[in-house]
Amino acid sequence: MSVRTGIIGCGKVGQIHTEALRALECSEFVAVCDANLSRAEKFASDYGVAAFDNLDEMFSNSGVEAVMVCTPHPLHEEPTVAAAKAGVHVLIEKPMASSLESCDRMLQATRDGNVKLGIVSQRRLFEPVQRMKRAIDAGKIGHPVLGTFHMYSWRDQAYYESDPWRGRWDTEGGGVLVNQSPHQLDLLQWFMGEIEEITGVWSNLNHPYIEVEDTALAIVRFKSGALGNIVTSLSQKPGIDTTVHVHGSNGASVGVMTDKGASFVAGVSEIADPPLNDVWTIPGEEHLLAEFEQEDRAHFANINATLYYHQLQIEDFLKAIQEDRDPLVTGEEGRRVVEMFTAIYRSNDERKPVKFPLT
Ligand SMILES: NC(=O)c1ccc[n+]([C@@H]2O[C@H](COP(=O)([O-])OP(=O)(O)OC[C@H]3O[C@@H](n4cnc5c(N)ncnc54)[C@H](O)[C@@H]3O)[C@@H](O)[C@H]2O)c1
Repeated sequence: MSVRTGIIGCGKVGQIHTEALRALECSEFVAVCDANLSRAEKFASDYGVAAFDNLDEMFSNSGVEAVMVCTPHPLHEEPTVAAAKAGVHVLIEKPMASSLESCDRMLQATRDGNVKLGIVSQRRLFEPVQRMKRAIDAGKIGHPVLGTFHMYSWRDQAYYESDPWRGRWDTEGGGVLVNQSPHQLDLLQWFMGEIEEITGVWSNLNHPYIEVEDTALAIVRFKSGALGNIVTSLSQKPGIDTTVHVHGSNGASVGVMTDKGASFVAGVSEIADPPLNDVWTIPGEEHLLAEFEQEDRAHFANINATLYYHQLQIEDFLKAIQEDRDPLVTGEEGRRVVEMFTAIYRSNDERKPVKFPLT
């Protein structure tokens, strides 16, 4: 039996979700909703589904059982809470929200409505990331003692002007931390474990035409005693260079270059270069790095990476409904990313380390 699915937010990432929902056997794609009816109608006529500009009408009239929330970040809450009240399962685009209060309301509503809640973090499904996670969990680096996430990337003025909600505190909720960094913040905490405290700073270095930060730095102390470092920036032209590295108590390191080459903007450009392990110094496995690269390049040549990993995560979410289990990334895990960037903003404001859990 397939799950009757729909999309809320017919924009750039909504297009990727649509293609995934049409391709998956476990999905019967039935409806789309957008505050802008003409956008919903365009999707509806392209894909032969029902169009709505009103959430309650969509939930009452389309028979939809699961929705993908693809609206701008501060607007994830309203459709999620409405879906939960209607008994509809929800997979939300990253980040879960732009505030912890919003996360908590969504968690409560989905618990009350007894529906599944998942958060998109499709880079967890990259082969080099899965390989790292398996090696860490198998104890091949001892235990993680140092984790780093670095991103050097760029967005131009045209990008910020492409949608009215970008680059503003009230409509985007933040800058590079909230929009471009959630994937790697998620990977860092997934690999390293629970956080004890964060010290952070942010600034807008090269984008005078936006309000929000284009650069943030942080030092993380994990509960295990491990340390972490974050440098994430949209101030370097051209292209993108993004890595997450984990160093272990036996001196061995594993790492992934999650994004490389031309900047990828969903719905605007395609992922041009494969994600690859760029560090692998597990004793006796050093020679595998070249094999991994060959394997990952061959796989990348056979998939549409822009769609493939979203499709895998959406499939996992629909199967979680069918099998009545947790999805790959739960709402509680999505909230951890929001806690991380909230801590960096708060630490910058208060000029001191911020203890977890945040109050
Ligand atoms: N996982 C990824 O790799 C990835 C990539 C890109 C974007 N995203 C996330 O997807 C979300 C959307 O980004 P986008 O680039 O597609 O934005 P977008 O502006 O292209 O699309 C957003 C759509 O939501 C609609 N909308 C706004 N308010 C609404 C409401 N209240 N009800 C219904 N529809 C509403 C807009 O009309 C628009 O069509 C963001 O949270 C972003 O972070 C994730």
